[in-house]
Amino acid sequence: MRALVITGAGVSAESGIPTFRGKDGYWRNLDPAKLATPEAFANNPKLVWEWYRERRERIRSAQPNPAHQAIVKLAAHANEFLLVTQNVDDLHLRAESEGRRLSRNQIVQIHGDIFVTRCSHCERREELCDAETASSARTLPECPECGALMRPGVVWFGEQLDPGETSLVEDFLTSGDCNLVIVAGTTALFGYIIDWALRGRGQTGQLIEVNPEETSLSQFAAKSFREPAGIALPRLIDELLSKVSA
Ligand code: APR
Repeated sequence: MRALVITGAGVSAESGIPTFRGKDGYWRNLDPAKLATPEAFANNPKLVWEWYRERRERIRSAQPNPAHQAIVKLAAHANEFLLVTQNVDDLHLRAESEGRRLSRNQIVQIHGDIFVTRCSHCERREELCDAETASSARTLPECPECGALMRPGVVWFGEQLDPGETSLVEDFLTSGDCNLVIVAGTTALFGYIIDWALRGRGQTGQLIEVNPEETSLSQFAAKSFREPAGIALPRLIDELLSKVSA
């Protein structure tokens, strides 16, 4: 079993984390150009910091759901496995199944990690401590090395993906077709998501989509489950694993 899983915001929806473009999604009420671009940060770093701090608070009080747990189970039973997530939350990393968690080399957070900050000028990166207070949000953190503003360690609109992360995906894709590719909870708007899913599937693999709604990837899926991931993924992965072990 060589498996590739690609996820988006929909997988964290059942944990209470809003999606971006779904009902009540962030981009339904907020302007991404004012919050998730380098220009927005240059214009109003305080507003951007405040928004990311609120998101971190919400994520800290959220729990992984059965979709996250099912993916950990698949990773534990697959011979080769990679999870590529667009989610900047840590729910995939916190999820447990049969007492196991994903190891760091089984997951690529392609849009970055909301609990990491990095300098807007030099290469400095920092893990964010848990105890963020309202007062710490009022002061914009500066880089201890060069004094420039620290910014959220996520990929904003108009920015390149981190080549270090994309090469991890490329290495996995170029070392063989997957017999299973699952794409869950994403509108698959970005070309690289569709490209990776199709290249992962190759000539012989099976591409399965889990999403209550049709997406630009649906036409390529052998099977589409129009259900919430927290319901469909545990059932689907148990079925797949029972077939493999039979
Ligand atoms: N289970 C599965 N899918 C769901 C669920 C659920 N419970 N709830 C919603 N969805 C689906 C929606 O139908 C939608 O197709 O999840 C998808 C969420 O899509 P988006 O909000 O566009 O999120 P995503 O695809 O992750 O966005 C990609 O865009 O805004 C940027 O950087 C941000 O990483 C994000 C990227």
